[in-house]
Amino acid sequence: MESSGTVGSGRGTSVVVSFACPDEATGISTAALTRLLDASERARLTRIVSAAVSRQFLVAHALLRVSLSRHLAIPPAEWRFARSHTGRPVISGPVEPTSLSFSLTHTSGLVMCAVSDDHTVGIDAERIDAEANFALLVPQVLSPHEASLWTAADVSSRAKRFHQLWALKESLLKAAGLGLRMAPSRISFELAEGSPPSAERLPEELGSVDDWSFFVSEPTPAHACALAVKAPSFDFARVEWREVSTEELVESALGRFDEVVLAGAAHASVNPTNSRVADRCL
Ligand SMILES: CC(C)(COP(=O)(O)OP(=O)(O)OC[C@H]1O[C@@H](n2cnc3c(N)ncnc32)[C@H](O)[C@@H]1OP(=O)(O)O)[C@@H](O)C(=O)NCCC(=O)NCCS
Repeated sequence: MESSGTVGSGRGTSVVVSFACPDEATGISTAALTRLLDASERARLTRIVSAAVSRQFLVAHALLRVSLSRHLAIPPAEWRFARSHTGRPVISGPVEPTSLSFSLTHTSGLVMCAVSDDHTVGIDAERIDAEANFALLVPQVLSPHEASLWTAADVSSRAKRFHQLWALKESLLKAAGLGLRMAPSRISFELAEGSPPSAERLPEELGSVDDWSFFVSEPTPAHACALAVKAPSFDFARVEWREVSTEELVESALGRFDEVVLAGAAHASVNPTNSRVADRCL
């Protein structure tokens, strides 16, 4: 199905993944971006003690608002959100576009959001931590099948492999609206170099393995990212990867949204690894 009502998306695009570097937001841009947030987001922001985490939250929520506004012509500051009974963020105003699906992730050095008019999506990004306690994490987080894949992998690729599997699980749990209410080890993925990831086994609540399509990418060499789309055999050529600069977010915050949206289409990036985020935010 073609996306409909989408502002600024490429032809045939069905999912738009926007990503940004949170560490670029300092001083005046922080003040401008805060203007995009609603009272509840600002209250959450003031409770965050770490400056780096605070920037992640701010840029992620500004990015989400600007990204939603590329899909429906509503000024970024006017979106209102609520939580579903399972904790999933949902749009509560100023319109209720039931078919618009979005997902957000923020981690050290990277924030990303996925938006789709026609498919349910979930996204997750993890900073690859080679020093993580894998002896503890692998049996806790991975399924027995995944653990055997992980053990068989080359030692130098294990950290990346673990975080890809972790991101895949979270992308699916977010697309399903569950978050960590379901134990990640109940989900099992097939992940081999050179082939797209797929679900090997899913709990009944998440439907059939064929209901979902998955994609892993490396927006930077330091991050693993996974995108889940609720559609069988989804063509990932229909994902638009779009790097958004702090300047673009600030322009939106300052009310020059229309110009930014029109200019934004020209900056669409099809290769997330060829990005300024990759250069600046490691
Ligand atoms: C959702 C979750 C898996 C994300 O984990 P994470 O890797 O730490 O964080 P990420 O940055 O990747 O994602 C966070 C975003 O996921 C989204 N999210 C949170 N809960 C979600 C849910 N149930 N479904 C879909 N998306 C969800 C939110 O947008 C959140 O960002 P925000 O809080 O700034 O709006 C995890 O935080 C979670 O499950 N939280 C809920 C905890 C919980 O259920 N507690 C109940 C008591 S045990």
